Amino acid sequence: MEQALTLREMVNKSPTQRCTASGNSKVKVISVTSGKGGVGKTNVVVNLALALTRIGKNVLVLDADMGLGNIDVMLGLTPEYNLHHLINGEKGLLEVMTDGPGGMKILPAGSGIQELSELAPHQKLSLLSELDKLDHSIDVMLIDTAAGISGNVMYFNTAAHDIIVVASPEPTSITDAYAVMKVLHTKYGENRFKLLVNMVKDPAEGREVYRKLGRVADRFLNISIDYIGYILQDKHVSLSVIRQRSVLELYPQAEASRCFVDLARIVSRWPVNQHIKGNIQFLWRRLMGVDAWGKI
Ligand SMILES: Nc1ncnc2c1ncn2[C@@H]1O[C@H](COP(=O)(O)OP(=O)(O)OP(=O)(O)O)[C@@H](O)[C@H]1O
Ligand SMILES: [Mg+2]
Repeated sequence: MEQALTLREMVNKSPTQRCTASGNSKVKVISVTSGKGGVGKTNVVVNLALALTRIGKNVLVLDADMGLGNIDVMLGLTPEYNLHHLINGEKGLLEVMTDGPGGMKILPAGSGIQELSELAPHQKLSLLSELDKLDHSIDVMLIDTAAGISGNVMYFNTAAHDIIVVASPEPTSITDAYAVMKVLHTKYGENRFKLLVNMVKDPAEGREVYRKLGRVADRFLNISIDYIGYILQDKHVSLSVIRQRSVLELYPQAEASRCFVDLARIVSRWPVNQHIKGNIQFLWRRLMGVDAWGKI
């Protein structure tokens, strides 16, 4: 009851007050998405997160694949609690967060979680009440989204500062990457995307995927796509998946690992936008369909 009251007070602040209170956050929120499944999103998130911790960033990974989340499995972790417990108010954020390699923090997905926007008011309240505990302790929050274009996937993407679209050279992956950008643009007004091409045989193949996507995007959508690089196809990635570790940890000299290190350098140079959009409370509000200034 007391908790709910505090929250109500919080959500009833004026827009200016809330902007000031939360606008200090320096967290950079980055979502990783693809449309098509199996193109390497989870591997990108896990290895990018680890590479970022190695250059001194405090990283939080949010497994937002509500149906089939598997970051914990990929890293051989067996977390006791997950988002499900958080949403139901059974556990606090700090209890649900798990430690991963390099000191990264992980919020594991629960299975079978409904659309966040459909949560009951008490669930939204219990989730919101936990958020302030995070804002100041992390630099980068990486969100691993599910495949497809469901409401949750779209909300996670629209709540992030930067959207990394992962595509592979396969034609179906390219068309699905286009589809996800199209929906994010036409329905949600997003117009900036970062393209990462995974599983390429050489750098030219990555640039070719960018050229193809860029051409159709220029012609049919008014969006800008930044090409942020490629990850080489590397058997060490699947070997590390089997061993439930990240490739960067297990095979630091592998070609894919070097690509992840380069990617982390690029990402760490992206400016931190002070806009409220990157604030974690804002993110959850969007996800849960809490209206702009707090009506639950
Ligand atoms: N650079 C790479 N080189 C070789 N194999 C890779 C590479 N990246 C990913 N893979 C392989 O692709 C498989 C799928 O990767 P991952 O689970 O990261 O994809 P995903 O996009 O997260 O899938 P989903 O949509 O199901 O969540 C992995 O098991 C791994 O073996
Ligand atoms: Mg995945």
